[in-house]
Amino acid sequence: MASITIRNLDVSIKEKLRLRAAAHGRSMEEEVRLILGELGNAIPMATPAMSTTIRASGSLSGRRILLIIGAGIAAYKCLDLIRRLRERGAQVRPVLTKAAEEFVTPLAVGALAADKVFTELFSREDEHDVGHIRLSREADLIVVAPATADLMAKMASGLANDLASAILLATDKRVLIAPAMNPRMWNHPATRRNRAMLQKDGIRFVGPNKGEMAESGESGDGRMAEPLEIVAAIEGLLARRQKPLAGKTIVMTSGPTHEPIDPVRYIANRSSGKQGHAIAAALARLGATVRLVSGPVTIPDPEDVTVIHVSTAREMRDAVEQLLPADAAIMVAAVADWRTANEAGEKIKKKPGEKAPALQMIENPDILAGVGHSKSRPRLVVGFAAETQDLLANAKRKLDKKAADWIVANDVSHATGVMGGDRNAVRIVTRLGVEEWPDMSKEEVAERLAAKIAAALQTVEV
Ligand SMILES: Cc1cc2nc3c(=O)[nH]c(=O)nc-3n(C[C@H](O)[C@H](O)[C@H](O)COP(=O)(O)O)c2cc1C
Repeated sequence: MASITIRNLDVSIKEKLRLRAAAHGRSMEEEVRLILGELGNAIPMATPAMSTTIRASGSLSGRRILLIIGAGIAAYKCLDLIRRLRERGAQVRPVLTKAAEEFVTPLAVGALAADKVFTELFSREDEHDVGHIRLSREADLIVVAPATADLMAKMASGLANDLASAILLATDKRVLIAPAMNPRMWNHPATRRNRAMLQKDGIRFVGPNKGEMAESGESGDGRMAEPLEIVAAIEGLLARRQKPLAGKTIVMTSGPTHEPIDPVRYIANRSSGKQGHAIAAALARLGATVRLVSGPVTIPDPEDVTVIHVSTAREMRDAVEQLLPADAAIMVAAVADWRTANEAGEKIKKKPGEKAPALQMIENPDILAGVGHSKSRPRLVVGFAAETQDLLANAKRKLDKKAADWIVANDVSHATGVMGGDRNAVRIVTRLGVEEWPDMSKEEVAERLAAKIAAALQTVEV
């Protein structure tokens, strides 16, 4: 196989090559590859010192990811991230910050990525064609993982005093960051300001999760998202041909139910449907065929989702049963536990001297348990538990009673403002333990949950 080392070329040839590459909007490396390709000597994108096998097909086949690795303990997870991305056909070009070299060696990163590792802003080898601009130009997506507090601060203030920050300032490509830091750093007012600024600038976030820190005895918000969650987020942004949930069918419920007392009155709850509808939209964006059974809500139907509108718990149950089998069931609706035993056919009239009518209640069908125990049980069954007390104990009980895989528990006490509001702080209860997510917008909860569902469905299939 032919190969050329550009820096060994004669100066005048190098100049001609530079001009030709610039005229075509390509890097010199790409230009050489094309020239050699035309001569029947195609060389691969990466010319690794130590090569690993690249799978030519996959959900990220041919996608070019510039991975900026910051100086956090979580940097070691990037080795797994690189492997997972390459397994899916992505080309990963790594950039290490100077400090990140203290946490992970360029040798290991380069070997797994099968590409050169870039570290220097002022590099004699790479700056002949303005390396930081080229690195950005040659990427479909820039991923920063771990995104340190320092890198986030630089990004938020537009600093460009090293290769990583210069790339991030010079790029017009989408940027996804996976923050990882100590909870006190994450919750510091400065980091909060930077987060808000980056979100405003359109930077996408995956994580962080709540959990144990590398420092002994520390736990809280700031743990980097797991490699598969990051992969799912990348696939959500990049996978053009095949989205991570393409071909998967997901049944969902959302909103409240209305249980009639008479033709004009009903028993309901404060669920707005915002969280369930946001999850349905996020799953659809990842390519899933989503069928959403919605109780009465005032918000619009989510995009690219088939919505079946119902009113009562029994109608919701019937609609869900009709929609099985499916790959996953995500039951977000706040289904009324009870309904009136004897719905009046006519409006109940107030009559002078008569006592207020006593409502007799009977239990409604348990839709989540029905799905969990169904013969057509989906591979992944997720329920929501809205509680005002003993949140975790109730969620854990629900997990078993309803034969669910995960319960997403949220505190809906009046003071939290979750019911009807725009924010949510959830805990994901599984048989392996409890994952606590920090307070975030319902849209963010939806994105993260959709990524987690995508990762779980992929894992189940392996
Ligand atoms: C042992 C150790 C662990 C660290 N872990 C983190 C971390 O997880 N997240 C973080 O933001 N900073 C962490 N830091 C601090 C960063 O390494 C430091 O701010 C560094 O300058 C960041 O460089 P970079 O943003 O250019 O990669 C850690 C420092 C040490 C010594």
